[in-house]
Amino acid sequence: MKITTIILAAGKGTRMRSELPKILHKVANRPLLQHVYDMSQQLDNNTITIVYGHGADLVRNTLKDLDANWVEQKQQLGTGHAVQQCKEQISDDDTVLILYGDVPLLKLGTVQQLIANVSHNTLALLTVNLENPTGYGRIVRDKSGKVTKIVEEKDAAPDEKLIIEGNTGILAVQGGQLKKWLAQLGNNNAQGEYYLTDVIEMAVADKVDVITSQPDTVDEVLGVNNRVQLSHLERVYQLEQAQVLMEQGVTLLDPARFDIRGSIETLGIDIIIDVNVIIEGKNSLGNNVKIGANTQIKNSVIGDDVEILANCVIDNAVIGAGSKIGPFARLRPETELADHVHIGNFVEIKKSSVASGSKINHLSYIGDTTVGSGVNIGAGTITCNYDGANKFRTVIEDGVFIGSDTQLVAPVTIGKNATIGAGSTITKDTPENQLTLSRVKQVSIADWQRPIKQEK
Ligand code: UD1
Ligand code: CA
Repeated sequence: MKITTIILAAGKGTRMRSELPKILHKVANRPLLQHVYDMSQQLDNNTITIVYGHGADLVRNTLKDLDANWVEQKQQLGTGHAVQQCKEQISDDDTVLILYGDVPLLKLGTVQQLIANVSHNTLALLTVNLENPTGYGRIVRDKSGKVTKIVEEKDAAPDEKLIIEGNTGILAVQGGQLKKWLAQLGNNNAQGEYYLTDVIEMAVADKVDVITSQPDTVDEVLGVNNRVQLSHLERVYQLEQAQVLMEQGVTLLDPARFDIRGSIETLGIDIIIDVNVIIEGKNSLGNNVKIGANTQIKNSVIGDDVEILANCVIDNAVIGAGSKIGPFARLRPETELADHVHIGNFVEIKKSSVASGSKINHLSYIGDTTVGSGVNIGAGTITCNYDGANKFRTVIEDGVFIGSDTQLVAPVTIGKNATIGAGSTITKDTPENQLTLSRVKQVSIADWQRPIKQEK
């Protein structure tokens, strides 16, 4: 059975009060429409059609990599009108699945169950019981409990408004039947719109039964109309991810204060994550990793037994097993730390590799540098990698000891086991095994007098 998924995404989203089309607003740093697309992509034998309209160019540009048919709805004349634009995408034997681009948390299982209810004489409808159904189309049933129609809030009679079973808008039906009913839609209703919901009454008239199912949670079918709802769904999504991680063996000191905007591709066990940690992009965390409070990790690979203390920013970095980072360290893109490296407070590292057992513990900038193993870099050491136009590399070979407050003016190589005296400005390569220092000789002036304040 072939599935044609139609995602309705042409609406404006006035209540977002935004220049950005609603479906490009993000949950977990992913556009709402992308969530719906990613979920429906997991259905077998499925082609996806997206009905777009409001913010057309921006939507197409932002989501140009989606493997979908794009159908433009120039004027938004209603959900039925939106689906009418997709006639050419619908074959008679397809099962057509209708989704909304602003309902990001719908689960694959819920959709699979819905699709399973479709046959030549059944239409599948996803409904939800709501504490406050205001704004939703209501599911009207006859005395035997059979669905007879959907009535929109604005068209509902007072007794119909009391119905708490709401229309999620999500349904699945055979293509041939849908096309027949779409051709019959009118707009004689309170909003003057072509309502997709009118196909329910037509189905019933054609002796097609409406089979309803419900999602596991209401949150799955909630749409985003304003930023309050957006923030609610963000929290729901984050809490779900936190729960999955805890089930996989991660301790989260507060699951309500943990965010993943991306994924953890490889996840070890016995990881402990303190509060306010944000993980973005694609990451990997080894066994026994500890992450301190307020740390941000993006597109990084963290080895086993790594300890990251509070307030670190780690972006596109690789951290070898047993390394210790922070607090207040910043690892910028293309940082590669081998095993048992120590990076301390107020240390910034960019596009550099540090071999095993080396330590850069305080107040340093290391950029465009290759650091060997067993190196100790003293407090306040700076690699001067940039002359205002070009970047140059620094090489610090194995076993080097660099005294505090040293500037290494690149390009420069510090030979194996060399020692650099504190306070040096190193502009030339230094030999192996020797002490090199560049420092004005210390003098003491015996008969020097401190200035004295004049009494007034
Ligand atoms: C719709 C349903 C209502 C249901 C509710 C659930 C109809 C007539 N009503 O109402 O029964 O309870 O959703 O949220 O279907 N869209 C287009 N083109 C259009 C109009 C809408 O693409 O011309 C898209 C929107 O971008 C949105 C979705 O369709 O993703 C729903 O549109 P919306 O205006 O929110 O529908 P409601 O009036 O809330
Ligand atoms: Ca809506």
